[in-house]
Amino acid sequence: MDGAEEAGYQTEKYILNEMNYSGCQGCNHCKTADECKIDDDLTGLLEDIREADAVVFGSPIYFFLFSGQFKLMEDRMYSFIDPGFNSRLAPGKKAVIVTSQGNPDLSAFEKAADDFAEVLKFLGFEVVDIIRMVNGGAPDAVLARRDLLEKARAAGRAL
Ligand SMILES: Cc1cc2nc3c(=O)[nH]c(=O)nc-3n(C[C@H](O)[C@H](O)[C@H](O)COP(=O)(O)O)c2cc1C
Repeated sequence: MDGAEEAGYQTEKYILNEMNYSGCQGCNHCKTADECKIDDDLTGLLEDIREADAVVFGSPIYFFLFSGQFKLMEDRMYSFIDPGFNSRLAPGKKAVIVTSQGNPDLSAFEKAADDFAEVLKFLGFEVVDIIRMVNGGAPDAVLARRDLLEKARAAGRAL
């Protein structure tokens, strides 16, 4: 996000773990109206994604996948899909995906981010970078990873 700001972007950060929200209820309201019927902490986030030129999505790997907190948010992105199953999002949005895992094998859970990248492509995003951290045991472990911090800054600058 610092890199994106250096490139002139205005940024907004959402920490899912500090927000209160529901998962998608499958009510299909969004297939007759261009909105998610649920009004909670994700409402503003979803609106910001609609308006954003670029989005950085981040999740730890929990049991081979993205976290439950992340998946609830992802399912609410169903409201970006119209009744004909096409994306309502304006084309040209860029995305960066960031993951952290305990396993030292970088390739161990590549599929989690790769699968989410496919969702983003379906929604019309161009996924420009996937940044993966291994050995991420402690919450501040990334502070010792100058290479990853620099990679993230460069990805933000290049948006
Ligand atoms: C519930 C839970 C499940 C986890 N599952 C995995 C896993 O399947 N593979 C792995 O490599 N690390 C796993 N981890 C470790 C986290 O991915 C790792 O600590 C990560 O760096 C946490 O990122 P954060 O500090 O940004 O929250 C798990 C941790 C928790 C708490």
